[in-house]
Amino acid sequence: MNKPVTTTDVSGATRSGPRIALFVEDGSGDWHARRLRTAMEARGATVVTTTLSGCAFDTSCPSGMDIPGFDGLLPDGAFVRSVSTGTLEQITFRLGILHALRASGVRVWNDARAIERCVDKSTATFLFQRAGLATPPTRVVETRERAHGHLAGNARPFVLKPLFGSQGNGVRRANGPDELPSPEDVGSVYYMQHYLRAPDATVFEDWRVFVCNKRVLAAMLRRGKSWITNVHQGAEPIAHEPCEEMVQTALAAVAAVGVDYAGIDLIRDESGRLMVLEINSNPAWKGLQSVTDLDIADILAHDFLQSVAEARAR
Ligand SMILES: Nc1ncnc2c1ncn2[C@@H]1O[C@H](COP(=O)(O)OP(=O)(O)OP(=O)(O)O)[C@@H](O)[C@H]1O
Ligand SMILES: [Mg+2]
Repeated sequence: MNKPVTTTDVSGATRSGPRIALFVEDGSGDWHARRLRTAMEARGATVVTTTLSGCAFDTSCPSGMDIPGFDGLLPDGAFVRSVSTGTLEQITFRLGILHALRASGVRVWNDARAIERCVDKSTATFLFQRAGLATPPTRVVETRERAHGHLAGNARPFVLKPLFGSQGNGVRRANGPDELPSPEDVGSVYYMQHYLRAPDATVFEDWRVFVCNKRVLAAMLRRGKSWITNVHQGAEPIAHEPCEEMVQTALAAVAAVGVDYAGIDLIRDESGRLMVLEINSNPAWKGLQSVTDLDIADILAHDFLQSVAEARAR
């Protein structure tokens, strides 16, 4: 159990409050991390912005871990903005740090299990289906040969997605087995999903719903000139008041996967049926922030610190 830590800053003043590790891509953190840090500090937390790659397992440390800025002790909470790309060994190590923090009683948002479930699109799809949620028909296989067999038996366009992709990167369409990418391009795993747009579609929209602490904070419609409607790919974010069906679907997706906060992508198929496309455990919210008056970073900071306080009180 972590005790509240009182630290002395450079001016000699003592500060109490939770000590938080904010894990980012590189040393300083991106726009989101900076906002989050400011919001948490305004709420009395001491925040160390650091990277998972800078952490160590170390048997000489009282906690068994060396988290930069914590002198071998544990933070009270850890907020993961990014795990960063790396080799299989690096990712395993970084998720191991997150698993170990949680096992040591540290509140971690989102924790390793949630990140693993979201980052692997095939597991997320499985969990949506198991929870009874509508999600596009999908098959995921190893080897080009097996993928070829699936597409050859289906006369329709498919979407292929990298298992670990985000922000629309690497998402592509195949109109038949001959358009399948090479195994090197997809890490030898073929995630194949029915393409849901009508062939003559000219308007491409889907919705991003942001959920934190079991409630919807905000949502936006994303309107793209191409069928890939990520804001990162140039789609326009438009404020959207989600209908009850969207709210319930997003909350059910969050419950199915077990995440503290998430960005959920919803789409309507050609017949207008609402489907869960994707869940993101480290969602960007810059596009969404541009169309809402809510301060998303501040709400995240509030909910996270409340959760840390509850864990410390146990
Ligand atoms: N089956 C599909 N049919 C039609 N369009 C799709 C389909 N799957 C994805 N798209 C489009 O491509 C975009 C990106 O797909 P998706 O959300 O699955 O991956 P991602 O955005 O790269 O991953 P993440 O949401 O984890 O960042 C979607 O927002 C949607 O516009
Ligand atoms: Mg997406």
